[in-house]
Amino acid sequence: MTTPSHPASAAAAGGINSLSDTDRTRNPNSESSTLQSYQHLFRPGFVHRRLYVDEQIFHDELRYLYGRTWLYIAHESELPQPNDFITRRVGGRPLIITRSAEGKIHALFNRCTHRAAIVCREPRGNAKGFICGYHAWTFNNEGHCTSVPLRQGYGKTFTLASTNLQHVARLDSYRGFIFASYSADVPSLSEHLGAAARLIDQWLDRGEKEPVVVRSGSMPFLVHANWKTIYDNAGDGYHPPFSHESMLKMFARRYGDVDMNYYGSDFDKSPMYSKNLGNGHTFLDQRPEMHKLSAWKRQHVMPGYEAMEKALIERFGETRALAMLDTATGSGMNLNIFPNLLIIGNQIQMPEPLAANKTQLTWFATTREGAPEEINAIRMRMQEDFPSFGEVDDSANFEACQEGMAYVPEMEWIDIRRHHDTEVGTPDPADHLWREPMSSDLHMRTYWQRWQELMNAGATQALKARGESS
Ligand code: FES
Ligand SMILES: [Fe+2]
Repeated sequence: MTTPSHPASAAAAGGINSLSDTDRTRNPNSESSTLQSYQHLFRPGFVHRRLYVDEQIFHDELRYLYGRTWLYIAHESELPQPNDFITRRVGGRPLIITRSAEGKIHALFNRCTHRAAIVCREPRGNAKGFICGYHAWTFNNEGHCTSVPLRQGYGKTFTLASTNLQHVARLDSYRGFIFASYSADVPSLSEHLGAAARLIDQWLDRGEKEPVVVRSGSMPFLVHANWKTIYDNAGDGYHPPFSHESMLKMFARRYGDVDMNYYGSDFDKSPMYSKNLGNGHTFLDQRPEMHKLSAWKRQHVMPGYEAMEKALIERFGETRALAMLDTATGSGMNLNIFPNLLIIGNQIQMPEPLAANKTQLTWFATTREGAPEEINAIRMRMQEDFPSFGEVDDSANFEACQEGMAYVPEMEWIDIRRHHDTEVGTPDPADHLWREPMSSDLHMRTYWQRWQELMNAGATQALKARGESS
């Protein structure tokens, strides 16, 4: 596991020293390799384009990275009732996530133990069990096989228990966020989350602390780009005034001095910052600007907002109503939890890798259970805002980067140098975690270090296993 460190050592850090020199020094553009070493794909402040475009590396990521760390799979509020289930792909693997009649959460591979067919083909529902559509093997929502048609054909030694659906190796949750690992050989979830847990607490405990509900609507995007391009952007505090210029200008023209205008000047001099939380997790904090005045008062207008504000003031008094409205606005937090949980504003994003150049990015809106109806209505209007006006800018950039990386092999390196050697980083006096100005590429240097640790360990293990079996 990594501990937060000075980023100068991060991107350059290799790790797989057990592989041959020939392998380490081979042409980084070579797409044919049997021995996997990744060290030659990193230079201080740069990463190689193949890390984003090479299908073999993508395949290795599914095995060595997604197969060997904790992954966010769902939020408990998506399964509110006994026997609720959802299906989704996480780290490439199709899963059924269920809540049993007793209320216990299970995560099962959605893969029939017979001929491997996807057992449950519905996105969500409520069911005590699942019947595979191919030969009707039947499983309850805890994964036990309960019947096999014409069972006598399998002979006397056959048992139903031997054909249960397979559970993921590890399952745990942190304050409603459910995580799974496909390998048993991982540290505890709390060790994995480390300093990120405290930021999850801050995100959950805003305002009046009503429980967060994630089954509030979701918006899937199919993006023709590598999953890491999306991960890069979620922690990128450099791009907003440039990528989202048209959106910001439109807001300013129509509504005047509103949210995000603090990007108008040299925002590296602002108190906003980027922080290394360790284990590949990072945090971009816009709260020092966004919440220094009333975040609600700085929001642009939206349909019905005056009537909703008035109704809340009448019911709760001005001070409490305005405090509640402040917390209905975006959280001002971009929390990247490596590799597949992005908490942005009031929303949760899950990037699901489909191919080296294809990712499904799903935005989940959130509401607060028990909060006044007006607060949740305002939350929803705001959560519709950015995906509609801003995400299109980001998606265009994801695909533009992918195109440049894929089609110009003459230019091999991707620049992640911002604030790499400006020596303006400093440990945060509050928690001693390393932080740099808002526009830093710290987040990329940080997760690439974790990427290398996982990938190199996975490759080393695979080589060892191959050696032992040959
Ligand atoms: S593949 Fe599922 S029952 Fe045959
Ligand atoms: Fe953006």
